Amino acid sequence: MKVLVVGGAGYIGSHMSKCLVRNGHQVVVLDDLSTGYRSAVRYGALIEGSIGNPDCLNRVFGEHAFDAVMHFASFIQVGESVREPARYYRNNLANTQNLLDAMREHGAGNFVFSSTAAIFGEPAQVPIDEGVPSAPINPYGRSKWMVEQMLADYEHAYGLQSVCLRYFNAAGADPEGELGERHDPETHLIPLVLQAASGRRPAISVFGTDYDTPDGTCIRDYVHVDDLCAAHLLALQRLWQGGGSGRYNLGNGNGFSVREVIDTARRVTGRDIPLRFEPRRAGDPARLVADSGRARRELGWQPARGDLETIIADAWRWELAYPWR
Ligand code: UFG
Repeated sequence: MKVLVVGGAGYIGSHMSKCLVRNGHQVVVLDDLSTGYRSAVRYGALIEGSIGNPDCLNRVFGEHAFDAVMHFASFIQVGESVREPARYYRNNLANTQNLLDAMREHGAGNFVFSSTAAIFGEPAQVPIDEGVPSAPINPYGRSKWMVEQMLADYEHAYGLQSVCLRYFNAAGADPEGELGERHDPETHLIPLVLQAASGRRPAISVFGTDYDTPDGTCIRDYVHVDDLCAAHLLALQRLWQGGGSGRYNLGNGNGFSVREVIDTARRVTGRDIPLRFEPRRAGDPARLVADSGRARRELGWQPARGDLETIIADAWRWELAYPWR
């Protein structure tokens, strides 16, 4: 099958392209390289262009007949989305609509959308299954939730089938060491902890020690990027087999606190990791843990690299390869 991977030069998109090619599919990457890297496109052909440009989309869909489109190209920083909501609604919402309209105009179907646990805001309960109401608390989460609603409307009116995958905390790296996480600036806990372990940073900041959790730090559900890719592949199979649209929460169902992540990283790396205690970061919910029962039941998803040590060990291999190829 031929798949368009929008944002295929980014963290999850680059791993997905590898996964698709390894599973016998043909990949075209569309990426404007605003946050992604040319060197991360190791699988599939790169078209440098933006979904913000309808002419570019017309050309891409005019030249290729895609069996599915996967969309990884969005801005992901919660704090920045509060300061600059216009950029987030433009890129994450309006540009996604351009993409969907290009699909519609060219008769392309089957859309897999990268959604997020941020659509749940401060959830009243954990673990979070798909029945928990969406109540995003920042523009980033709202932009993703709006796309999910748009997709429901596009299905109703135009028959576009889609699967929304709500990632909890994506982490880890390609076990073969070819690909990994590379954000600039990096804001995510695990890569920052490992940069402190390798000496690229003097210390890791712990944002908040007074949360209502056993050790006072925030709890998250870390899920391996390769396990996320496996869920995407299953989502494609569902769409291609006529299984219909769906929405799935993707995590391992295990919550780890910031302190537990740091302790695990100390064990995995054998390095000292200096801490710096800082106030809470605005907008961080105390606990986000997924109930992925629906993905297991309906997609047959079974995370293979779910334990935190494996996630951190894979990310550590990538950190040790810095500066990356
Ligand atoms: N943290 C620190 N120090 C750091 C960085 C993070 O203590 O230097 C803490 C955060 O406060 C949080 C936890 O580590 O409690 C995880 O933070 P990340 O930034 O790694 O991840 P988030 O949970 O904030 O974000 C993830 C995704 C977002 C998504 C969000 C949903 O990366 O795209 O989940 O809430 F919006």
